[in-house]
Amino acid sequence: MHNLGILISGRGSNFLAIAGAIDAGTIPSARIAVVVSNVPGAPGLDAARQRGLPAVALDSRGRKRAEHDAGVVDCLRQHHVELVCLAGYMRLLSPDFVRAFPHRILNIHPSLLPAFPGLDAQQQAFDYGVQVAGCTVHFVDEELDHGVIVLQRAIPVLPTDDARTLASRILNEEHQAYPEAIARVLSGRFQVVGRRYMESARP
Ligand code: GAR
Repeated sequence: MHNLGILISGRGSNFLAIAGAIDAGTIPSARIAVVVSNVPGAPGLDAARQRGLPAVALDSRGRKRAEHDAGVVDCLRQHHVELVCLAGYMRLLSPDFVRAFPHRILNIHPSLLPAFPGLDAQQQAFDYGVQVAGCTVHFVDEELDHGVIVLQRAIPVLPTDDARTLASRILNEEHQAYPEAIARVLSGRFQVVGRRYMESARP
């Protein structure tokens, strides 16, 4: 059984999509070992408790990044986490955190990276006038929204879109893409060569 640790800062809809995919059997042999938030009032923590999952608040306010991250790493280790999934976790990870889980931390970002890293990616893409938008699941490194890309999903920007409708359609893609990327990574049938994520043939 693969133990997942989910890190959130807010509503947690990607966390719920992952939980739903596990229940539906589309992420085989996986379970959510713990949900951690750096924001004590994050709605996603309540959603985790309602599902009977361990939900831990580790408030990051006023704490040095390295100190806070050491506490998160301890918590993940206590729960024997194998793969860390950032799901709307709005904090850059410290180098020690990244090194604690090499190629074992995933993030989802609501743009086709490397375009529009950082906050409000959907609004950035809409304001730029792109005609294709989407989301990216990538391994986390020490730079913002930067690590090796595992999977991307693209959608057209419609003439009727505003930033809100675009963000909502991207979010639907995220809910499909993240469970799929997790299942692929957990299968272990990949190698990373430079910046390239390459899947091996199925046996
Ligand atoms: C998602 O759109 C996710 O891609 C984004 O925050 C939202 C969280 O929603 N993450 C980032 O922008 C990270 N750079 P959720 O809490 O409902 O999953």
